[in-house]
Formats: sequence, structure tokens, C-alpha cells
Amino acid sequence: MKNKKTFYVTTPIYYPTAKPHLGTAYTTIAADILARWHKLLGEDVFFLTGTDEHGQKLDEAAKKVGKNPKEYVDELVKEFKNVWKELNINFDEFIRTTDKKHEEIVKKLIKKIYDNGDLYEEDYEGLYCVPCESYWTEKDLFNGKCPSCGRGVQSIKEKAYFFRLSKYQKKLIELYNNNSDFVLPKSKKNEMINRIEEGLKDVSFTRSKFKWGVEFPMNKDYVLWVWADALTNYISALEWPDGKNFKKFWPANIHLIGKDILWFHSVIWPAMLMSAGINMPKTIFAHGWWTVDGEKMSKSKNNVIDPLELIRKYGVDSFRYFLFRASTFGEDGDFSEKVLIERHNSELANKFGNLISRVSTLAEKYGLEKTENKLLHKLNLKQINLYINNYELDKVLNEIFSFIDACNEYVQEKKPWETHDKKILYQLVDSIKAISILLWPFIPSTCEKISEQFGFKINYSEIEKPLKIKDIRKGEILFKKIE
Ligand code: ME8
Ligand code: MG
Repeated sequence: MKNKKTFYVTTPIYYPTAKPHLGTAYTTIAADILARWHKLLGEDVFFLTGTDEHGQKLDEAAKKVGKNPKEYVDELVKEFKNVWKELNINFDEFIRTTDKKHEEIVKKLIKKIYDNGDLYEEDYEGLYCVPCESYWTEKDLFNGKCPSCGRGVQSIKEKAYFFRLSKYQKKLIELYNNNSDFVLPKSKKNEMINRIEEGLKDVSFTRSKFKWGVEFPMNKDYVLWVWADALTNYISALEWPDGKNFKKFWPANIHLIGKDILWFHSVIWPAMLMSAGINMPKTIFAHGWWTVDGEKMSKSKNNVIDPLELIRKYGVDSFRYFLFRASTFGEDGDFSEKVLIERHNSELANKFGNLISRVSTLAEKYGLEKTENKLLHKLNLKQINLYINNYELDKVLNEIFSFIDACNEYVQEKKPWETHDKKILYQLVDSIKAISILLWPFIPSTCEKISEQFGFKINYSEIEKPLKIKDIRKGEILFKKIE
């Protein structure tokens, strides 16, 4: 049997210190869209998400509510799994860093890095941002605060084991230069190259002030720094080094992350892999940051967007659609419920929903007659595939919606309600098939309803196969207008 093409996509593993929100939902839906797209193409897909459950931040969050950390994270992990289900996120594995399997593989990787001479004992003295779990120096700070999240930092002084990150400076630059897609978008890649060229300092890989972490395999007085533990999830889920999934799916096609954690993924993680002699992921894609009505989303501002609330009001597909239509994938975006409603009404209800309802009503009345679908020539599939391969998700939607516009114009122009032309209706239904297949990764449940109503299969290869004629019924309204 011929080996199928594979596609491995990951999300960050989130800290289960709060329920999923707009930001974490965004990355995870993006990964779901990519995973579904490659499934549509018939590829063998592995889509990984999960939770990052160790470290000082978790330890402190659990203590604050008087729970032990494991009890605390168990409850929140349930929330994550539930929200992902409600959002129609179809991952293949949910990894938790407290899984025994993960912990054992982390120890194995760290041991390998140690055996290669890349970990050494040294005192750490400096600053630490607990919410970001990251080390800083005085000169890194911005107005005395963490330059990444803007919160306060603490001074720490502890014995530690350092990872020889400095040793990989040249090799990282080579990696970036030889792989133009290693970090995307391109602007982010240049930013990272500049930072690497400023010089890399070795980084402490252990903590000793608390116990909530993976034990450092060379000295049980230490636990691993949570980032060294967390990044390893991308290979522990595949059971590195001997697992059949590791052989099949590594290297990852894409680590999808937000721009806040690009440094860890594009500098520390590749250096760890280099040290252990493991191949590099193909692409690290850092998307932009969501604000809400122009403001930073935060608990203290009480403006954290709960995806469950939105999908209860507008439906899961309107939410998924809005996120990828509203801003350029890769750049920052601003969330506004008003704009979500506008797009729901004008694009999903008026353009897409109306096309389906008009055409199905007429097809029910007058029937279809097979013919060549010339209307389909207006669909630029080649361009859509180029966009997908560059992870330009908003542009994919743009292209599909310009074809929807073309279909609506065709209805206006041909007036099938007057002519009762079965060949015109055939071309319209066949075009609806193409549209629904292409939109399935974005708005799966709506497209599945349409495929049942019109009787076609959701599979990329069906796009260019002529539609089989079935009896069509009018069906329910897919997107109700919101006042
Ligand atoms: O950093 N806009 O977890 P985390 C867009 N455990 N994306 C956002 C966002 C926003 N306003 N807020 C959050 C961690 N995100 C580590 C990761 S991976 C080995 C370890 C998304 O819970 C975005 O993907 O803080 C960001 O990178 C991630 O949530 C951070 O999640
Ligand atoms: Mg964070």
C-alpha cells in the first residue's frame, strides 16, 4: 500500500489556571481548521492539543484556592475538554503534562541533553515572571514590569542546572537561513533572527523552590523548569523515540502558537532538539493577539470573552467563521460582538444562507438536469490551495466568498424562478457542493447539514466530480438573522 501523506499540527498546551477563552479558542480552532483541511485531502492527520500542568504558576494558583495542584488541574482540564467539544474541535490526542508517559519521555530527553554535555550546574540570580514562567534581567523589563505580559516580576536566587543555549546561536541562524518557512509570518521570523543575533545566554532549566514539576533526572533536589517540560509534549505525545507515531508524524508540519510564546518555540525548542539530535519541525506559526473592543483582555478588566456564551447566542459556526474572517491570520485582531453580528447577518445569513435556501427551494420545485458546470470555472481552487499552504486562512475565506458572490449573481442573472431551467439549477447545486466542501473545515456542522440536504460527500475529490442527482428538499434556515 502506498504511504499516505501525513500532516501533524499542534497547539500550545494551555495552562489550566482558567477556563478557555477567546485567545485559546482561536489557536485551537485554527489547528482544527488545518487538521480538517488535510483530512479533506485524504491525508493521515495527527492533531495534538493539551494542557501544561506543572510549574510555579500552577502551584500557586492551586494553593490560593486551597487545593493540591493535581486536584485543581483535573477540574479545569474537564472544562477545556468540554469547551473544545462545544466548539467542534476534533483533536486526535489531548496531552496532559502530568501523564506518566509524558513525564518519562521528558526525563529521557533531558538525560540525553545532559549526556551531550549541554546541562551544567550554576547559580541563578535574576528575575522571574510567574504568569509567563520566564526569566528576565533588569534591562529586559519594560517600565519595571515583565516585557511580555506587563505584570510584576520577582527576584530569585537559586542553585540550578543551565542549558547551553549559547552554543546553538550559529546553528539557529543557519536553520533560519536555510528554511524560509521555519518561522511564519515572515515579519516574526526577522524579529527572531535579530534577537538571536543580539546573543543567546544559557538558560536555567531547573527550579528548586517548589516541588510541582517533573523531577530533574540527574538530581532529585530539582524539578524541571516548566518550559523544558512543556515543549517536550510535541514529541512525547508521539512516543519519542521509538513510537510508531513518532516515526510516522515527526517532524511536525506546524506548531501553531500565539506571538507571546514564539521565543520558547523558535529558539529554545529547536536548540533542545538540536542537542538531542532530533529533526526540526517544519514551521512555527505565530499568530497575532486579540484585543476586545480595543482593550487588552484580562480578568481585572472583566472583559474576558467566553466562547460558550457566544456560541449559545450566535451558534458555533458563526463564532468560528468570524474569528478567521475578521482579521488577517498572523496579525492582531480586535474582537467586537457588533462586528460578529454584522458578518453573521451579511455574509452567513444573506450571502451563503440565502443562496442555499433559494437554490434548494427552486431545486425542490423544478428538479435538476445534468450538464457541465461552467459556473465552477469562477472558483479559483489553485489559489485557495496556495493560500492554505501559506496558512493564509482569512484569504481562503475571501476566495470562497467571492465564489459565493458569483453564484448569487448567477441566480440573479439567469432567473431560474422564471425559466425553471434545470441545467442552471444543476450548476448551482453542484457549486454549492464545492462551496460546502471547502467551507467544512471552517464551519463543519453547517456544511454537514448541507451535504445531507443535497446528498453529496464531504471530500476534496468530490469537488470536481459531477454531482449525482437526488431529490432535494427545501431544508431549515441555516443562519437566522440577528436583530
Ligand atoms: O503559554 N489572543 O499557555 P497559555 C490570541 N502553557 N491568542 C491568545 C490570546 C489572545 N488574547 N490569549 C491566549 C502557555 N492566546 C504555555 C504554552 S506550549 C509548549 C506551552 C493563546 O495558557 C495563544 O495561542 O498562556 C497563546 O500562545 C496561548 O494562548 C498561551 O496560552
Ligand atoms: Mg500566557
